[in-house]
Amino acid sequence: VKHTFRRLDDRRRFWEEALEGRAATHALAGRADLADFELRRELKHATAGHGRRKGEVYLVGAGPGDPDLLTLKASRLLQQADVVLYDRLVSPAVLERARRDAELIFVGKAPGDGPGTQEDIHAQLLRLAQQGKRVCRLKGGDPFVFGRGGEEVAALAAEGIPVTVVPGITAALGAAAYAGIPLTHRDHAHSVTFVTGHEPAAGAGTDWAALARAGQTVVFYMGVANLPSIVANLVAAGAPASRPAAVIERATLAEQRIVTGTLDTLLARANAARVQSPALLVVGDVVALRDASAGAEHVVQLHEARRA
Ligand SMILES: C[S@@+](CC[C@H](N)C(=O)[O-])C[C@H]1O[C@@H](n2cnc3c(N)ncnc32)[C@H](O)[C@@H]1O
Repeated sequence: VKHTFRRLDDRRRFWEEALEGRAATHALAGRADLADFELRRELKHATAGHGRRKGEVYLVGAGPGDPDLLTLKASRLLQQADVVLYDRLVSPAVLERARRDAELIFVGKAPGDGPGTQEDIHAQLLRLAQQGKRVCRLKGGDPFVFGRGGEEVAALAAEGIPVTVVPGITAALGAAAYAGIPLTHRDHAHSVTFVTGHEPAAGAGTDWAALARAGQTVVFYMGVANLPSIVANLVAAGAPASRPAAVIERATLAEQRIVTGTLDTLLARANAARVQSPALLVVGDVVALRDASAGAEHVVQLHEARRA
């Protein structure tokens, strides 16, 4: 293989493909003779000029921060990618799982970034894939939950670039688990809704009456700046001021903070704690189960101890 491919990159690609291909299947089945035959055939093929693979993009959910929440598939593709384009919400500990010699490109996306930014990301992804690179587009949480993943897939598909989408643990799931809040519960919540709190004035088009109803859990993403208007809208639409609510900041990370209260107390408590983005607002009776449940507290403490 070394004799055939002068460049390390080409050798790596050959081995990666070979180790996932028919030669590997034969070897695992104990047929070394067939594996040997297949490997030589593939090598001959590659030298005949068929080896150059087309570029591709992996649109990967990095989860909410704790690197142990990466899926096995996300980890594997992170190890394969030549280039990683990552967002602000991707934690450094997750980035450490990238291949050691991979190029890491920060593509920002802070709240309030202009509309040009997303177009720039599409153009970068396209350019790198057209150069034949394996590009990992790493996004916080899940790429298809408030992640604009759909737009990136469409932009790449329109240019014929193959895209693999890998789901990630969305912030609401990570935050709830690490805070000890069950998002649904037989006695308290029969549904859970993920809503963006980012819209101007917290969403002119939002159905507040539906979100204010009892018997459910509502999780607001991107809602820190609009916390006052979200709470006011819920109460105006009929949610009782005594409804439990929590803000979870930097969920699943060592710095995770949780502020709990009710719709009438939460705002003052969150202000006092100087809660900042990224944070989620969870509204519903299930939040009270956190305080009621010594077991959940234990889970959180265990996690915190492990992190420390
Ligand atoms: C643009 S959205 C991206 C959501 C992401 N695709 C997901 O599935 O979690 C960004 C918002 O997600 C929430 N978020 C992401 N990571 C978080 C974390 N570790 N802790 C709390 N909230 C988080 C915050 O509400 C933040 O403003």
